[in-house]
Amino acid sequence: MKAIYIAMMAVAGVVMTGQAQAADESALAKQKGCLACHVVDKKLVGPSYKDVAAKYKATDAAQLAEKIKKGGSGVWGAVPMTPNNVTDDEAKRLVTWILSLK
Ligand code: HEC
Repeated sequence: MKAIYIAMMAVAGVVMTGQAQAADESALAKQKGCLACHVVDKKLVGPSYKDVAAKYKATDAAQLAEKIKKGGSGVWGAVPMTPNNVTDDEAKRLVTWILSLK
């Protein structure tokens, strides 16, 4: 029972604070292998997520989610991002998290 109560409070907290406090999706990013090429505050194979957050606005989220799924290159350099095995929902959650890392 206690776990359910805590989970409900967490959901309520997210709903109330809205976009300002996106859920921490670093565990999902790790599970999906993103962190092999990306670090939050350092350039690795790909740009740091803070740099990505600084470059884009919330209105770019759909485009970024698409790129995470399909991969691509040319924005940060010649090295391509390979397509990632994520669902639409996971891609959106990851983008929301990344864009919150300003
Ligand atoms: C094989 C290495 C690699 C993996 C794995 C990887 N990325 Fe990338 N990522 C890159 C590179 C390289 C770029 C820069 C692409 C470019 O310059 O257009 C990039 C760019 C991005 C961008 C910015 C896109 C843009 O157009 O500016 C986002 C957001 C991103 N990655 C998120 C993710 C997420 C989320 C995952 C995990 C699901 C992931 N990446 C997995 C290498 C990777």
